[in-house]
Formats: sequence, structure tokens, C-alpha cells
Amino acid sequence: MADATVVRSFALTDKIHSLTLELPGEASPGQFLHVACGDGLLLRRPISICDAGDGAMRIVFEVKGEGTRRLAAAKEGDVLDVLGPLGHGFEAPEKGRVLLVGGGLGAAPMLLAAKKFDCDAALGFPTAERVMLLDEFAPRVGRLDVATDDGTYGKKGFVTGLVEGRLGDYAAIMACGPEPMLRALAKVCAGAPLQVSMERRMGCGVGACLVCAVKLTDGSVVRACKDGPVFRAEEVDWNG
Ligand SMILES: Cc1cc2nc3c(=O)[nH]c(=O)nc-3n(C[C@H](O)[C@H](O)[C@H](O)COP(=O)(O)OP(=O)(O)OC[C@H]3O[C@@H](n4cnc5c(N)ncnc54)[C@H](O)[C@@H]3O)c2cc1C
Ligand code: FES
Repeated sequence: MADATVVRSFALTDKIHSLTLELPGEASPGQFLHVACGDGLLLRRPISICDAGDGAMRIVFEVKGEGTRRLAAAKEGDVLDVLGPLGHGFEAPEKGRVLLVGGGLGAAPMLLAAKKFDCDAALGFPTAERVMLLDEFAPRVGRLDVATDDGTYGKKGFVTGLVEGRLGDYAAIMACGPEPMLRALAKVCAGAPLQVSMERRMGCGVGACLVCAVKLTDGSVVRACKDGPVFRAEEVDWNG
């Protein structure tokens, strides 16, 4: 547990906010911070680490309910109570290029992955107004492809359409986004080395409560917060 001072706070879009916290140490792509949101909100909120380095860690999040509303209101100099980095992140292949796949807010953790891996990125958003972080991805990746569901930015269609036909080029594919997107991607990538970040509602965030259960194909139940949130796609029971 750490007290983390807010060093930068700004809105990326009307609903999406970026907070940089003074937090020394290393973080792996796919790990998250569990952030306390103040009086009356018992549960911490899990948010992926979007960037890390130089004694700071950054989170990018959508303002959804009371917890994220309070976080977005944090000002530079405010102090937040933070647990983390938590969880098991993406694993680098021994050699070869990586394809990063991000859907919506799932693009955020991929920015840290883009810093660490030799990679290309395929990002999908619902519409042009929700497109984010492209100027920060561009210098970190080789090829950057973008799709929007409605075609208002980049290629029209889902992010899976950007991935089809390219799988042979990569030693690993790493994905974060809404579960229906991950499920569809797992079908498209069948037989390819796909790792997925499974976002589950969380209680403790440290493996003690089982709120974040994920069912695997071998029938076992694991914890997204401690055993994940990143799993190999072929081990996840997508009907569980
Ligand atoms: C490992 C992980 C990483 C995440 N990374 C990001 C990120 O980088 N950016 C981002 O915008 N969001 C991320 N989320 C989702 C984020 O945690 C929720 O949007 C947030 O907790 C909502 O809190 P709230 O108080 O604003 O909303 P409310 O709806 O008021 O929350 C009520 C309760 O539900 C829980 N909850 C609601 N939605 C979710 C959800 N989708 N996942 C987990 N718990 C939820 C909250 O923690 C809280 O306990 C992540 C979730 C997980 C599990
Ligand atoms: S949130 Fe408690 S075990 Fe995962």
C-alpha cells in the first residue's frame, strides 16, 4: 500500500481521464493499480497501468460511476491510497514481434506494452470521438492500424478485422478490451499465441475473496486479480 501524489491530471476526452501518480518501481504491461476512492467507498477500483517510468505510473480510465468520478476530480498534489502494481501481466515471447490489440479503454494498458515490446498495434474504438492515445502509440510501434465500429475514423468495423490474415507475422498477440471482443478475437486467433487481459469485478484485488473468478477449460477456477488478469486465450473457458 502506498500514498501516491498526483503529478498530472487531465481529461483526454469528455469521459476519459488521465492521472499520473508519483510511484517508484517497475510495472509489467497488463498489471493494474487498485485505487482507493475516498470516504464511503469501501472497495478500491482496479485500473490498468497505462505507462510507467521515471518514478511515476499513469492510469487512463473512463468516468463511469462514483469511484472514477472522484478519481477524475483529483488535482495535482492530491494524495491517493494505491495498492500495486498487482497481478500477472503479459509475457514477452523469447524472440519475434508482438501484435498488440486494444479495444476501447483496453488500448490504455497496451501503451505500456508498446514501450516494452518490439511490436505493431491494432486498436478499435466505437466511434471517432472515442479514439485516444494514437499520438502516443505512433512513436512506440512499427505499424499502427485503427478501426472504428461506425467507420468515422480508420477502417470501418471491429478490431478483429484488423487482425485477420496477419497472425503468421507474430510471435505473440496480446489483447485487452471488452469480453465480447476478446471472445471474438480468441476465435479469429485459434491456434495462435494469444494472451488476453480478463477484466472482472474485483473485491480485495489480492487473491483473498474470489469475487474475480475466471473459469478455465480444465474446469479449474482462478483469480483474475492474482493469477491474471492476463491468461493464455486457449486456457479460458469462454462459455464459463
Ligand atoms: C484488472 C482491471 C483493469 C481495469 N483497467 C481499466 C482501465 O485501464 N481503464 C478503465 O477505464 N477501466 C478499467 N477497469 C474497469 C474499472 O475498474 C471500472 O470501470 C471501475 O471500477 C468503475 O468504478 P466506478 O466506481 O466509477 O463505477 P461503479 O459502476 O459505480 O462501480 C461500482 C462497483 O463495480 C465495480 N466495477 C464496475 N465496473 C467494473 C468493471 N468493468 N471491471 C471491474 N469492476 C467494475 C467497481 O470496482 C465498484 O466496486 C479495469 C478493471 C479491471 C478488473
Ligand atoms: S478480487 Fe479478491 S480474489 Fe480477486
